[in-house]
Amino acid sequence: MSKENNGERKINRIAVFTSGGDAPGMNAAIRAVVRTAAFHDLHVYGVARGYEGMIDGDFSRLESRDVANIIQRGGTILKTARSQRFMTPEGRKAAYDSLLAFEIDACIAIGGNGTFTGASVFSKEYGIPFIGIPGTIDNDLYGTELTIGFDTAVNTAIEAVDKIRDTADSHNRLFFVEVMGRNSGFIALSTAIGGGAGSLLIPEVDTSLEDLIDTIRLSAKRKKLFSVVIVAEGNKIGGAATIAQKVKEQFDYDIRVAIIGHLQRGGSPSAIDRLLASRLGYRAVTGLLDGKENVMVGLQDNKVSFTPLKDAISKEKKPDQDLIKMAEILAT
Ligand code: F6P
Repeated sequence: MSKENNGERKINRIAVFTSGGDAPGMNAAIRAVVRTAAFHDLHVYGVARGYEGMIDGDFSRLESRDVANIIQRGGTILKTARSQRFMTPEGRKAAYDSLLAFEIDACIAIGGNGTFTGASVFSKEYGIPFIGIPGTIDNDLYGTELTIGFDTAVNTAIEAVDKIRDTADSHNRLFFVEVMGRNSGFIALSTAIGGGAGSLLIPEVDTSLEDLIDTIRLSAKRKKLFSVVIVAEGNKIGGAATIAQKVKEQFDYDIRVAIIGHLQRGGSPSAIDRLLASRLGYRAVTGLLDGKENVMVGLQDNKVSFTPLKDAISKEKKPDQDLIKMAEILAT
């Protein structure tokens, strides 16, 4: 049953796992990996809890029927973890021993930056080929326009902002709404544009407290009776609660704070995330059969592409400057 690619290495058994923060659409990606592999007569093992399960040898065989009825489910059927043990040489040795015990030829890792950093170090040490599938709501990976889960998270955040606008409007209030994104502002930018926010704070733009207060004053002058400011959790001034407090000290405004938090990580994946996950999961398997290794499969110009894992983790992806400008203009 072995598959030979480029006459160099044989792929018979693949391990697939999810790691880091979960993201809606991870299940759709697992399903695509398992079914594409089955089509090519490869054996797939699902590893529970990411690198933690790899260290503990928590592997189970996945066949096509095992991934039925999961495409619409949020979270990850394989569970996930942020593994401290995998950061140690002993942990990685134990993980390698598990892969040997299950005769795994290659791994498909679904996750974000931390997941791929682990994969890079590990494959360098032990020579196991990896393909990464970008699964994170943050959309912060170089080499792909979209990561799995981002679209659903933005839809969730916009739905929340729509509701907050109703109450902000009724009370003429200023709301600071904090969204996730770790050190990047992709979720915040899309939420601000799609949610019609009055202002935006993201890590990629240096906005001072004074700049923010000027914008809020200007909105008031323009007879805006209520306003929503979208705050990316990683922005440089601070969290929404801190910013609200600082603004309050300078302004007699009726201010409230909403932190959307982990709601953004759950829920049924959007159509865009299901399609993306299916395309990337499919291509991850066929990529392995084509001899690709230590690359991340992603979407560029709406085409599936491969980027070296080392670039995906080290190069910075920044939001489009023109989109940022547009968000400012449309907020006036
Ligand atoms: O990377 C996804 C993410 O949701 C970030 O946006 C956020 O900063 C972080 O994970 C939260 O992590 P945890 O669920 O471990 O608190």
